Amino acid sequence: MSETTGAAPAAQHSEAAPRLSRLLLTGAAGGLGKVLRERLQPMARVIRLSDVAEMAPAAGPHEEVAPCNLADKKAVDALVAGCDAIVHLGGVSVERPFEEILEANIRGVFHVYEAARRHGVKRIVFASSNHVIGFYKQSEHIDAHAARRPDGYYGLSKSFGEDMAQFYYDRYGIETVSIRIGSSFPEPANRRMMSTWLSYRDLTTLIEKSLFTPGVKHTVVYGASANRDVWWDNSAAAHLGFAPQDSSEVFRDKVEAQPPVAPTDPNAIYQGGAFTAQGPFGD
Ligand SMILES: NC(=O)c1ccc[n+]([C@@H]2O[C@H](COP(=O)([O-])OP(=O)(O)OC[C@H]3O[C@@H](n4cnc5c(N)ncnc54)[C@H](O)[C@@H]3O)[C@@H](O)[C@H]2O)c1
Repeated sequence: MSETTGAAPAAQHSEAAPRLSRLLLTGAAGGLGKVLRERLQPMARVIRLSDVAEMAPAAGPHEEVAPCNLADKKAVDALVAGCDAIVHLGGVSVERPFEEILEANIRGVFHVYEAARRHGVKRIVFASSNHVIGFYKQSEHIDAHAARRPDGYYGLSKSFGEDMAQFYYDRYGIETVSIRIGSSFPEPANRRMMSTWLSYRDLTTLIEKSLFTPGVKHTVVYGASANRDVWWDNSAAAHLGFAPQDSSEVFRDKVEAQPPVAPTDPNAIYQGGAFTAQGPFGD
């Protein structure tokens, strides 16, 4: 992290010089990566975009493209060299057979942290997930200290990533904010997402806070907008000063016009929704 980290209030970033020299964005060709490329621009002089998939659109003036498979330790080591912070979005983002998750998410997150240690990167933002706690009921309210209840191999891999983050803080002082992203899409697609929705604007603010708030150690924060019925309490991450501006409420009529969900449907029971009922694979 540059020595200027935390020197200016986050809200003023766009008026001032970028505080990072080179920010690595993994998963940059994915849904959130595409959105964040432009939005993170004011925060770094150069954004290094990485993915195993083709990068589209091609690199703009303050971007550079560095293709990389996260499962390749040497390649990840080279990828991280010269970066002063990492926003780690790359990996399998849905429930899949364990072997796929193992390569991209479990080996991948190890490679990212190991490379960060070797190259002196001091701040990582880790895209964790609500699926780390997916087996809590929607009637329950939890904070970051609640025991994790992953709802599949994907959720397990994010839980492992959070442990990796804690370990690399305790052992090497690398600071991470693990954002348990709810559902970050243009708008909530169903009733469950009325609670879990995270607008792109709020996601961007949360990433900015996660990059520049001093002394975060390893912080776990839930990534949801200011929705009416939230299941998550962010008091353990109050030091980030994250105050979401958007709410799913503006989409309520549209979402509630959808056919009702049966009360026995996992989408109506569990915080992780349908992920809780996927698998087994390969029987
Ligand atoms: N979008 C959401 O609502 C949401 C919710 C919870 C968590 N997340 C997490 O946020 C991150 C971004 O989500 P997204 O919706 O953009 O997902 P996405 O699937 O669109 O993007 C993930 C990207 O990672 C890349 N990737 C996969 N395996 C890779 C590998 N082995 N090496 C290099 N790159 C690889 C993919 O090519 C893809 O472009 C993911 O880590 C996801 O788990 C997203």
